[in-house]
Amino acid sequence: MKLGVNIDHIAVLREARKINDPDPIQALGVAKLAGADQITIHLREDRRHINDFDAKRVVELSPLPVNIECSIDEEIIEIISSLKPHRATLVPEKREEVTTEGGLDVIEKFDKIEQAIQKLHKNEIDVSLFIDPNFEIISACAEAGADMVELHTGEYANIYAMLYSNLPHTPHSIKELELSRKELREKLFQSLSELENSALYGSRAGLLIAAGHGLNYQNVTTIATLPNIVELNIGQSIIARSVWVGFEQAVREMKVLIDEACYSG
Ligand code: PXP
Repeated sequence: MKLGVNIDHIAVLREARKINDPDPIQALGVAKLAGADQITIHLREDRRHINDFDAKRVVELSPLPVNIECSIDEEIIEIISSLKPHRATLVPEKREEVTTEGGLDVIEKFDKIEQAIQKLHKNEIDVSLFIDPNFEIISACAEAGADMVELHTGEYANIYAMLYSNLPHTPHSIKELELSRKELREKLFQSLSELENSALYGSRAGLLIAAGHGLNYQNVTTIATLPNIVELNIGQSIIARSVWVGFEQAVREMKVLIDEACYSG
């Protein structure tokens, strides 16, 4: 299973001071050395972390394939088409959100998404769609001509954190998940089943299947053992761990966890 390392949070740290350090470009070679298979960045409409200057340099200098997450806004699709990364992952974007909070509504926005896919394909860019695990949406992705889907693991990660970490005892406890442990266990099982069934359904529809969002050193193993998933994109937890052990070691540890899960799964 491939590991895409999302380096946005290096730019988040830089933007905290609006200077030129740390530079996400320095992560490119180190990520490869540590066993990453792909570099992922998100060029957000508000440019809150990665900016156009970063995106251009990442595509030019990365020794690994580059996956750029972006919205379906026409101006952004134009920019990505001229940058020509290996892949674009289309995601929903709301300016006020902290991070990408849900999957793309491929049914409601079908025409716009289909047009974006065609434009990106014309520019030799593979297209993945970031979606919630749902059969109807997966069918629409295949119909729209996507090459891949990335299943949103955010809900799984939230339930996992409320069950198995100290999150409920912190100010960032997730109110709608303040439930009994039994209810949380049932929800976790249901969320995993949806991811597993969607991965099978999507691969039968001819799509490659990735997963990501909220994955960390505790919750990644279960996801990495699910059949049909070929790639995980992981960012915040790797950059957070880098504070303690350094970026190279943090990527290496994540890659080992994924590899071990795949061999034993
Ligand atoms: N995949 C997609 C499509 C995303 O939007 C993000 C967040 O930018 C990630 C993966 C990485 O999520 P996290 O930082 O929680 O690991």
